[in-house]
Amino acid sequence: MQRILIKDIADKAGETVKLAGWVDVRRDHGKLIFIDLRDASAKVQVVIVPQNKEAYEVAQKLRSEWVVAIEGEVKKRPANMVNSDVPLGDLEIEVKKIEILNEAKTPVFEIGTDGYEVNEEIRLKYRYLDLRRERLQKNLRARHQIIKFIRDYLSERGFTEVETPLLTKSTPEGARDFVVPSRLHPGKFYALPQSPQQYKQLLMVAGLEKYFQIAKCLRDEDTRGDRQAEFTQLDLEMSFIEQDDILNLMEDMYIKLVESIYPDKKIIQKPWPRLDYEDVIKNYGTDRPDLRKDKNNQDELAFAWIVNFPLFEKEKQENGFYAPSHHMFTSPKGVLELEPQLAKSFQHDMILNGFEIAGGSIRIHNPYIQTKIFDLIGFSKEEKEYFQHMLEAFTYGVPPHGGIASGIDRLIMILQNEPSIREVIAFPKTGDGRDLMMDAPAEINKEQLKELGIKKI
Ligand code: AMO
Repeated sequence: MQRILIKDIADKAGETVKLAGWVDVRRDHGKLIFIDLRDASAKVQVVIVPQNKEAYEVAQKLRSEWVVAIEGEVKKRPANMVNSDVPLGDLEIEVKKIEILNEAKTPVFEIGTDGYEVNEEIRLKYRYLDLRRERLQKNLRARHQIIKFIRDYLSERGFTEVETPLLTKSTPEGARDFVVPSRLHPGKFYALPQSPQQYKQLLMVAGLEKYFQIAKCLRDEDTRGDRQAEFTQLDLEMSFIEQDDILNLMEDMYIKLVESIYPDKKIIQKPWPRLDYEDVIKNYGTDRPDLRKDKNNQDELAFAWIVNFPLFEKEKQENGFYAPSHHMFTSPKGVLELEPQLAKSFQHDMILNGFEIAGGSIRIHNPYIQTKIFDLIGFSKEEKEYFQHMLEAFTYGVPPHGGIASGIDRLIMILQNEPSIREVIAFPKTGDGRDLMMDAPAEINKEQLKELGIKKI
């Protein structure tokens, strides 16, 4: 008999079906044994009567989280036994046969709760058990739906998703790089990308015009609730466009996404406000204010754009030079003035309920201006050489271009009403960057070190 998903029994009253999954709970009621059987799609109550001796004996042994296959008849529950609070609460399965596919140790924590009460280190060590809870299953499925929506939306509008390398050279986004030693080139290292920034600009030089990617980014920085060393961006770049084109596209996509996947949520202002950086700082003292009217109401979504950023950070760096406010490829507005710290830029940030959920800019597409920016940042000759490939590419006919990257984990965290991005990432790391389940980072053996030409100090 072919196994079916529990959710598909809804219209099968009177039929015999085969189901498989985990024992959620077992309850003994007088002579009857009840188990709640759970699979990826739903839960259903299963009844084992003592008259069915063989199945009854098996059922007596069952414990929570054992894996079983059952065959039985789908029955309508008597009216007084209907549980209208849960899906399929009007049905139950009267067992004919039970097969134990695998036993299970008692889980180290409750799986039937939302899990907030459990120590997070233990949740992360046993993440495969933690992910069995309904809340996390919902988060992962919502994540899938959101990413699929984005992929469909952009694909329908002529965008091509392109994968860019993970083994690459540093693109500074303000954090430290994770580095990977090269075996074939001893003493040399790859850097894992802090973002696909250079690749996406080079894809514009390549003539792709509309690129996006659901991209992994890696930044060696201290993690916190809305920050992981390894996180996901919707990364996007377009040619022959203006700043408004990027803002309008993202705004339309996220409004449609919310309307289609979260119909109960209310976007409090449409079109979204576009606020001047200086005004925002003056009025709120931060560049990512929470603009909700009622901050306790999780169904309010206050999106806004912040524009007209300064090109450089206010304070000079220790070396006496300016640090870019966004990144070094961001286009200044107008000509660079004599006092560069007064220059504004084509940077844009998207904020939502007090979080920065996207950032981007119109890029410099003139190698002369790019070199000038490198000078203002205080790049040495070597540092300039490091980006020589970009400057060279720009001499081969680069279109005007710009883009944005949106923190997918943060967006999903807010939409799912979660307090941390760790709740919406399948296998997140701890605050100090460890994967407790895999026990990473880990030592590597002497042979590996030798092969890589690395000596521990
Ligand atoms: P930026 O560095 O602003 O821009 O990143 C874009 C968005 O990514 C999210 N984000 C993070 N999310 C989780 N953990 C982190 N450690 C983390 N760091 C950033 C934020 C942020 O708004 N290449 C440019 C984009 C561009 O110019 O097109 C970039 O990466 O939501």
